[in-house]
Amino acid sequence: MIGVDRDAAVAVLTVDRQEALNALDVATLTELRDRLHDVAADEEVRAVILTGAGEKAFVAGADIKYMSGLGVERAKAWGALGHEAGRLLETMPKPTIAAVNGFALGGGCELALACDIRYAASGAKLGQPEVNLGIIPGWGGTQRLARVCGLGVAKELIFTGRIVGAEEALRIGLVNAVHDPVLDKARETASLLASKSPISLRIMKELANRALGGDHATNLEAEGESFGELFSSDDAKEGLTAFVEKREAVFRGR
Ligand code: CAA
Repeated sequence: MIGVDRDAAVAVLTVDRQEALNALDVATLTELRDRLHDVAADEEVRAVILTGAGEKAFVAGADIKYMSGLGVERAKAWGALGHEAGRLLETMPKPTIAAVNGFALGGGCELALACDIRYAASGAKLGQPEVNLGIIPGWGGTQRLARVCGLGVAKELIFTGRIVGAEEALRIGLVNAVHDPVLDKARETASLLASKSPISLRIMKELANRALGGDHATNLEAEGESFGELFSSDDAKEGLTAFVEKREAVFRGR
């Protein structure tokens, strides 16, 4: 099941299938996809954290027992469902943070990679071991690991299936910080982000997602356009005026 915990403007989604180290079967991944849709559409939620229940695992991957019985068409549908969850994390109009509290392997690492920010507990272990099962990362790992860590690091990790600890993950840029308890760090950042202008965050996320793809000049033009348009928002007026008046800005998302 997927736990949903709302604390003011921060939503924490917790994958809870501890008997299988939070590995995702069809029911759990479908529920995760549905809860991601909910928080994406809820304007009162300003930041989203994804984590795993218990201390052992974030998500130990796609359910291998389920996959062992799949043919081509059902495997494609399974890949598509994982992609759908990943795209929601990557493109929903608010920041998403992975709090990696143990094993984040295969599809688990891929969901973390789809988040905007990743934090790891010191005992976390991350990797893409699909090669050892005779398959490939199928929920975005062949693309997003390279975007996060660079192509050379990504190829070594997906070709060998090598699992990295938290300190190495930090060194190669796979996670942004290592902290115990990791959920505290994720909540601290999420609360900070919830106090910023949701309009700025939405537009920055949209533009930053274009940074590694498409035409650079076109992307810069889009940035220029959005920069100008933002000056019609109450949040921009409030932020700029608050600085001049030497007070804290209060952003309302308008
Ligand atoms: N799928 C299904 N069940 C899983 C699982 C998975 N991905 N990972 C762990 N489990 C289950 C185990 O089968 C075990 O259940 P039983 O007691 O019923 O046998 C239970 O969780 C506890 O696991 P272990 O006894 O193996 O625990 P451990 O501490 O000895 O080892 C581990 C932990 C190293 C993470 C090991 O469980 C493991 O290697 N898991 C598989 C990791 C993996 O390969 N993930 C990638 C999956 S492929 C994928 O995700 C494809 C994709 O890109 C979408």
